Amino acid sequence: MDDRNGWGRGRPVPAGSPHSPPEWFVEQANVTDSEIDEEFTENWPDCWERAADLLSWEEPYDTVLDDSSAPFYEWFTGGELNAAYNCLDRHLEAGRKTHAAIRWEGKHGEYETYTYRDLYVAVNEFAAALCDLGVEEDDVVTIYLPMIPELPIAMLACARIGAPHSVVFAGLSANALSTRMAAADSEYLITCDGYYRRGDAFNQKSKADNAKLSVEADVETVVVDRLGDELPHVLGENEWDYDGLREEFAGETVEPVSRDAEDMLFLMYTSGTTGEPKGVVHTTGGYLAHVAWTSRAVLDVEPDDTYWCAADIGWITGHSYIVYGPLALGTTTVMYEGTPDYPDRDRLWEIVDRNAVDVFYTAPTAIRAFMKWGEKYPARHDLSSLRLLGSVGEPISPRPWRWYHEHVGGGECPIVDTWWQTETGAVIVSTLPGIDEMKPGAAGPPLPGIDVAIVDENGAPVDPGETGYLTITRPWPGMIRTLYDGDDRYRSEYWERFSDPNAGEWRYFSGDTAAVDEDGYVTVLGRVDDVINVSGRRLSTMEIESAITDVDGIAESAVVGRASKPNGTEIYAYVSTEGRSNPGDGLRRAIVENVESAIGPIAKPHEVVFTPELPKTRSGKIMRRLLEDIANDEAVGDTSALRNPEIVGEIRAGREDDT
Ligand code: WTA
Repeated sequence: MDDRNGWGRGRPVPAGSPHSPPEWFVEQANVTDSEIDEEFTENWPDCWERAADLLSWEEPYDTVLDDSSAPFYEWFTGGELNAAYNCLDRHLEAGRKTHAAIRWEGKHGEYETYTYRDLYVAVNEFAAALCDLGVEEDDVVTIYLPMIPELPIAMLACARIGAPHSVVFAGLSANALSTRMAAADSEYLITCDGYYRRGDAFNQKSKADNAKLSVEADVETVVVDRLGDELPHVLGENEWDYDGLREEFAGETVEPVSRDAEDMLFLMYTSGTTGEPKGVVHTTGGYLAHVAWTSRAVLDVEPDDTYWCAADIGWITGHSYIVYGPLALGTTTVMYEGTPDYPDRDRLWEIVDRNAVDVFYTAPTAIRAFMKWGEKYPARHDLSSLRLLGSVGEPISPRPWRWYHEHVGGGECPIVDTWWQTETGAVIVSTLPGIDEMKPGAAGPPLPGIDVAIVDENGAPVDPGETGYLTITRPWPGMIRTLYDGDDRYRSEYWERFSDPNAGEWRYFSGDTAAVDEDGYVTVLGRVDDVINVSGRRLSTMEIESAITDVDGIAESAVVGRASKPNGTEIYAYVSTEGRSNPGDGLRRAIVENVESAIGPIAKPHEVVFTPELPKTRSGKIMRRLLEDIANDEAVGDTSALRNPEIVGEIRAGREDDT
């Protein structure tokens, strides 16, 4: 564990004043039973049958939870099902053929609707093609596609024939793709000629070609023609055109393969504490039950909703809440290919308006951008179809929470702040929107049936208001089963630190720090490696950042440590403002004062550097390590993962001007 700063005593920023769910929402909510927590606790683990009941099982399971080889838990053992059957066939059988499954919004304003019938046909034809290419049950198929309909089609085709997919985010490099293919022994790749980024055609195939050069196996490759005449669509040996295959297998159907509940549904690589990516293994029964249940109970999704999770399917959020959760429930899921500011900064609101989106789920990094751009953009559109808003991926501090509530939710829609991880598969901590009060800045209590403990380094629960490590003390259906690279790494990454195997006590360690309040609401503070140690006091960078972004006029901030003799670590804050080009000393003073009053003088930034934007990866995470390098006057490492590499020079220049 890269816990380079040891253990801290940071305090969470107090949550904003609570909001009750509005009555009109409660009246229609999917889950409103206020006894649900007690019911799940008394009846654990059988309470999870409520999630499993949302699925169609070919063979009923005989045991809800088998914990005999902890921490290798098994859920719904003996049960058999197929994920694609659950996401497609059963909705057709229920007479919902013509119901929209996917509403795809293209980069350039084009849009397409796939009904459940259309999606069924596409998935079957492509599944037939994959079988013909030699894909067998349990072969890992790598998918390297941007946000086009062929991505969920390929995933569901794999699920149909029992071949686990490993989706690699389209914006990752050739090197990242080859490492993941090699680690998964994957001999099948589905990619495309290219895609549009901003206005430009971007060549994806050349990245895939480069990746294949360093994969030893002969790779069978399917190539989707996304760009038509904009890029040559030249296919080499063992390369097949997606449309050609669809034509060849037109009208074919493939029986969904019976999968054991514990058979692998997919692999998802995520970054670990070492440089090696971790291949997180998710299985069919528990994962699907958990994502379907949380889509229903937390995101309040109903079959007749138009629901939009504005994430990328290349990450876990998109797997669980664009593809599997909503489609298992038979709802309409929106999929957007482009960026929020193209052609203009109201693009998302235009899509909400045109599709009459009921539920909208996004990340704080996007919300902070909307806030920075200003309320005039959402105000241009009719957003009154919205009923519920969601947030995921980072802590959302009270000010952006309130902005989202007011300017997107019209001051009416409840917000669910959902904490979870690639490894948890589905939501773990969140309010239930039809029951719980919301507290801006605090995610909420653990979901019914989930036990979370915030503990000190000895595993003892900390007092309310104190910072501790976020652990999960009982297994849950959507949990990671192991790491593809090995059971030992799985144990050591997640279980070793806080478990006591001799006492039969197993605790999952999330790698996050958090605090819990008197009502049991969890405020997540950040990763353990985002902790800075200042004069023996360890402060969460997120905590300081929240105090900074609470200052009027601040859009976003990132805080890092600078090693300094004789003072130990000093705090450096990189700050972007809401549109002001020359922020000046007044704002700098306001920032320092606010941090001092929110946390204490110890957390006062030593230096505040204004920048037009923060350096971010393509998935929207701020690259703090890079900012740390700049603060420490060190050479900046690899910037190839950045969406905005040009910002590094600007920040350096800005710092020199300031000093
Ligand atoms: C962070 C994304 C605060 C956290 C689903 C976690 C959050 C990591 C929240 C997982 C939230 C996610 N509040 N922090 N609501 N949701 N995180 O694997 O640090 O891409 O460990 O999964 O994101 O990121 P991952």
